[in-house]
Amino acid sequence: MSKLLVKGGKKPLQGSVRISGAKNAAVAIIPAAVLTLAPVRLENLPEISDIRILVEILQSIGVRADQPEPGVLILDSSGLDNFKPPFYLVSKLRASYYLLGALAGRCGRAEVPAPGGCDLGPRPIDQHLKGLTALGAQVEVGHGLVKVTANGLYGNTVYLDVVSVGATINLMLTAVRARGKTVIKNAAKEPEIVDVANFLNALGARISGAGTDVIKITGVEELGGGVHSVIPDRIEAGTYMFAAAATAGDVLLLDVIPKHLDPVIAKLREMGIDVEVCGDRVRVSGGRTPRAVDLKTFPYPGFPTDLQSLAMTMLTSAEGNSVITENVFENRFRHVDELVKMGARIKVEGRTALVEGSCRLGGAPVSATDLRAGAAFIVAGLMADGETLISKIDHVHRGYENICGKFRSLGAVITEVE
Ligand code: UD1
Repeated sequence: MSKLLVKGGKKPLQGSVRISGAKNAAVAIIPAAVLTLAPVRLENLPEISDIRILVEILQSIGVRADQPEPGVLILDSSGLDNFKPPFYLVSKLRASYYLLGALAGRCGRAEVPAPGGCDLGPRPIDQHLKGLTALGAQVEVGHGLVKVTANGLYGNTVYLDVVSVGATINLMLTAVRARGKTVIKNAAKEPEIVDVANFLNALGARISGAGTDVIKITGVEELGGGVHSVIPDRIEAGTYMFAAAATAGDVLLLDVIPKHLDPVIAKLREMGIDVEVCGDRVRVSGGRTPRAVDLKTFPYPGFPTDLQSLAMTMLTSAEGNSVITENVFENRFRHVDELVKMGARIKVEGRTALVEGSCRLGGAPVSATDLRAGAAFIVAGLMADGETLISKIDHVHRGYENICGKFRSLGAVITEVE
């Protein structure tokens, strides 16, 4: 497994970087394509390993996938002949849970091994299963498998107990071809959910309210084909924003939807960082020492949990002490031990971390505890004195397109080593 060697010294990152398509939208839209028999063309897909695995999964169940050019995929699910995707592929991917809703909607049956992905503490899928059951499916869980059987799916009202991105999307996928009307209450409002709804509506689905906490879906008998371009990845954008600010750099992000970055822009400005927005571009200039802030993660439009480790990394150099509260996942502070190895002074108490500022990090060997933490360690490595060797870098390639190339184009010295 390869590692990343990052040369430190807090050399300011400078230049411009194009933001790729959103991983979390793409990993839902690709399985959603099985809901129609007609071909669909997907554009602006990120070139990441999660997408490659997902395409392999679909091919393994009879879907034809052609990639005429990078970032474009034409999926034809007319030949789908299997509702049991294989364990060795599904177990590599958290988002494989979308196959449950998509296959249930398409075939009325699904047998999907338990999802893999980042270890962020317990990640139950009870709300996904509650949604499937409410629409009339029988769900059995056991021996590492989730089995769904439905003799017809029927619209219903489902109140989600927790605001869940995955459960909201999965329920949408199941409801699109169910008979009658489904109402999802306490739905998640992430932009990726709106993107999935827009894709399905382009194929002929009848979904309204995506982006609010009540989504209404009127089932249709069949869906057609269509073309859809995936929205920009707000988490990848946020990653380069924190990297620019943490290295006192000056970076222009291209092809973003600034509205999706509102909570991140607001927090960076609170830290004293200059952020300028112009059309689909955002410029971050971090010439001064950031101010300490208190930060709480929440579902959208709150500050994203996926950028918590990046914000924490930057705050180690802030003037003053910061308090970070993780409200979305139970155990998303695994990166703290690695940052401490680099000299950070951080104390964790339950869901809260106290981050001491004015700390000069030093290079150290660290392990990418999850996808976003891996990106945070790249930023920590750039801020540090000396060299940082990051292992388990495969986590990072799951979700970031050409991360080394993009950082290098901004002046970072990063090499992939075996
Ligand atoms: C998605 C994102 C992930 C992001 C997260 C929160 C994808 C592929 N991943 O993950 O990058 O960090 O949203 O923004 O889109 N929960 C339950 N029961 C359920 C489902 C969730 O208790 O059935 C809990 C989770 O344990 C967690 C919270 O709800 O504490 C939010 O999780 P959820 O929004 O579902 O995250 P994911 O969809 O897995």
